[in-house]
Amino acid sequence: MSTADGEVDIHKKERMETSAEIWAPGGPVEDWTTDYDIRDQAYVEDPVPIWAEMRETCPIAHTERLGGSWNPTRFDDIRAMAKMVPELSSRQVLVMPGAPGMPEMSRYEQQIAAAPITADPPIHDWTRRMLLPAFAPKAVLSYEAYTEELCHELIDGFIEQGQCDGAVDYSQQIPPRVIAHMIGIDPGMADQFVIWVNGVLGEGLNDPELRLRTRDELLGFIGEEVAKRQSDPQEDLLTELLFMEIDHPEANITPEVVVGITNLLIVAGIDTTWSSIGSALWHLGTNPSDLERLCNEPELLPIAVEEFLRYYAPVTMARVADVDVEIGDVCIHAGDKVLMNFPAANHDPEHFEDPDEFIIDRARNRHVAFGSGVHRCAGSNLARLEMTTALGVWIERIPDFHVSDREPMRWAGGQVRGPRVMPMSFPAGTRR
Ligand code: HEM
Repeated sequence: MSTADGEVDIHKKERMETSAEIWAPGGPVEDWTTDYDIRDQAYVEDPVPIWAEMRETCPIAHTERLGGSWNPTRFDDIRAMAKMVPELSSRQVLVMPGAPGMPEMSRYEQQIAAAPITADPPIHDWTRRMLLPAFAPKAVLSYEAYTEELCHELIDGFIEQGQCDGAVDYSQQIPPRVIAHMIGIDPGMADQFVIWVNGVLGEGLNDPELRLRTRDELLGFIGEEVAKRQSDPQEDLLTELLFMEIDHPEANITPEVVVGITNLLIVAGIDTTWSSIGSALWHLGTNPSDLERLCNEPELLPIAVEEFLRYYAPVTMARVADVDVEIGDVCIHAGDKVLMNFPAANHDPEHFEDPDEFIIDRARNRHVAFGSGVHRCAGSNLARLEMTTALGVWIERIPDFHVSDREPMRWAGGQVRGPRVMPMSFPAGTRR
């Protein structure tokens, strides 16, 4: 891997696949401190008490499952690990191991696969800079009217029936359309985006074949969109990225880099925000006093959104150690995988008063739902705008609703946690 002078050759191919046995489902977890499994149903449905147990008894737990990983649950440890760049590399951020049949990739190819999230410096520096202007607070405000109209249209589609699936018919529909609109792709592709995201981060977590097939399809589609704009530039973000000039000595903006960035925007921008909108609606639909308070005091919404983000933080990431690092009394060896358990950090009593209580007007709330350090979410302004708009329009049009037991709720978990089936009932209303 290293050259004679100790430099790492980033173009040398590395094996990415793992054996099928590693993926096989293990039995139910009996000891969360030595044998955790992020796919375990109890963890997917309600991880809060499990994190409390882990934090108390073994704050940096280890498991041999899924090829082995470490799972920190204390805020300070997670924030310290987020600063260990490049010792803890982002070139493998998926919490699941490489799928069997995954092609070999060089370190360079791994880093540009979904830059900047998969990149370490220096590639991280210039790919992140490519994105920042489009996601600045003022820039994202230009998507507010589109998002608001979209939310009204979705509600018009089911309000007369007095019921809907809050995950499928509402939360899931918003981010893919906003992203498509933003990148410059036909919003009619939104349903296909959802299928792809599910294949990468949802069902794909348990089905390596599906994950690999989806990855090929999604990258193929983006590759074609990028190629079209190379020959026929458009007024859209994809074209802007392709022809961008960045003042950085190492910047090398190729079509492959733009494919990787677009891949990230689709994957990172959809599942995350849809999960956050869905979890917030689930909370309001199962906690009538919080719903009533928000309806009576809609000016609380931006503060409530921060508490939804803290309490129901959807995203766990991963890192791979490039060198041995020590944290607390644990030595993480080169090659080991570490989970960046941002959701668990948000429930650490050392940092949050009554962390396992949802306090809709929580005053001090420096959560890490958007991560911490150099990789902190570049899309947080857009995510907040989508959440505030989606929830604001919903409570304006449907102030009285609850999660019903018409059919069982279903949560997704692992890398991104949120409701995937969520039956809702409310008094039938009228279209606008
Ligand atoms: C509520 C919704 C969202 C949550 C909770 C969330 C969470 C996160 C987290 C935890 C990270 C850090 C990853 C790491 O440390 O490895 C991250 C990075 C990132 N997110 Fe988000 N995200 C959300 C929405 C979005 C949206 C809507 C976009 C854009 C369309 C987006 C784009 C990005 C990008 C580009 C990065 C990589 C930043 C970097 O590596 O420098 N995210 N996000």
